[in-house]
Amino acid sequence: MSYDSAISALSDDALKFVKDKYVVGLGSGRAASILVKSLASLIKVKKYEIKGVPTSLQIKLIAQKEGIPIIESDQVDHIDIVFDGADQIDSQKFIIKGGGGALLRENILFSLAKKIIVIADKTKFVKYFTRSVPIEIHPLARNSVYKTIQKLGGKPSLRILDRGYPFFTENGNIILDSDFGTIKNPKELSKKIKQIPGVLESGIFLRKPDIIYKAKPGGKFEVI
Ligand code: A5P
Repeated sequence: MSYDSAISALSDDALKFVKDKYVVGLGSGRAASILVKSLASLIKVKKYEIKGVPTSLQIKLIAQKEGIPIIESDQVDHIDIVFDGADQIDSQKFIIKGGGGALLRENILFSLAKKIIVIADKTKFVKYFTRSVPIEIHPLARNSVYKTIQKLGGKPSLRILDRGYPFFTENGNIILDSDFGTIKNPKELSKKIKQIPGVLESGIFLRKPDIIYKAKPGGKFEVI
C-alpha cells in the first residue's frame, strides 16, 4: 500500500514549524523526498529565505531541482529543524535509520538540530525493534567488525546491490546489516556497536525525535 497521499498531507502540516530564514535539515528516502517537494512550494509561496542541509546526494538533487538553496553541514553551527524518515520506530521512540545508507550524515544533522521531525508510515512502528540494524564501517574493518558483531549476538550481512556489487555509502564505506532479533535494549546495544573500532555509525539513533508523524491508510495521519 502506498502512503504517499498521507505523507503529502502530513508534510503540509509539519511545515508549519518552518519559519523564515531557517536552516532546514533534509533527510533522505521516500518520505523526506515528498516533504522536500512540499517545502519547495512553501518557500515559493511565502518567499522564505531558507537554506537546506542535505543528508545525501539523493535529497540534494531533489532539493536543487526544486530550487531550494543548499548549504552543507560543515558551514552551519546549528540546524533549526530536521525532517527525516525512519526504517523503524520503537515504543520508546528510538529509531532505526540507514535503510538508504545515509545514516552517518543523518546522525550528524540530528546532533546539530534544535528540533527533529520524523515521518513514517504505520508499518514502521513496533514495540521492540525487529529489523536488521545498518552499521556503517570502514571497508578495512570488515572482518574485525563482523566478528565483534557476532560476539554481540548479531548476524551481520554485507549490504550488496542487486547486481552483486558491494554497496558503498557516499562516504566510501560499507554497511553490515546486522540482525539482532528482537532488540529490547537499543540504548545499550547502540553504545556497544559504536565502541567497535572501525564502526563509523550505528543505525540505532538514540536522539529521540521531538515530533513523529505517522502516515495511515486513506491519506490520514497522526501526530505523536
Ligand atoms: C536513509 O538512509 C534512511 O535512514 C531513510 O531515512 C529511511 O530509510 C526512511 O526511508 P523511507 O522514507 O524511504 O522509508
